[in-house]
Amino acid sequence: MLGRVNHIAIAVPDLAAATASYRDTLGAVVSEPQALPEHGVTVVFVELPNTKVELLEPLGNASPIAAFLEKNPAGGMHHICYEVEDILAARDRLTASGARVLGNGEPKIGAHGKPVLFLHPKDFFGTLIELEQV
Ligand code: CO
Repeated sequence: MLGRVNHIAIAVPDLAAATASYRDTLGAVVSEPQALPEHGVTVVFVELPNTKVELLEPLGNASPIAAFLEKNPAGGMHHICYEVEDILAARDRLTASGARVLGNGEPKIGAHGKPVLFLHPKDFFGTLIELEQV
């Protein structure tokens, strides 16, 4: 069911500082910031030869990463995104086996314009998993 790693996401308290660090210190190509109000985050993507790193900063008052940053004020690894071919088939298989899908269970459109879902970290060894249909 799982395809390649689409991206690894890191929550950061200051997106401009994190962008500068990846671009200037690590020498990476970093995209322009993209506000995703429906997800409560602003993101940039660090482009790598084999995958991407997504840097996330809270957007708005009810950001889903605000509590994470309170616990991890310097930032930290937030989720890993795996590609799937059919997100609804993946969701149905997961929920049938008892895994919990966050939110209302319906895919939202993610940063790449593709449908995404998040799976409860307690069901997957403390790691928040994002699935993206490619
Ligand atoms: Co993501």
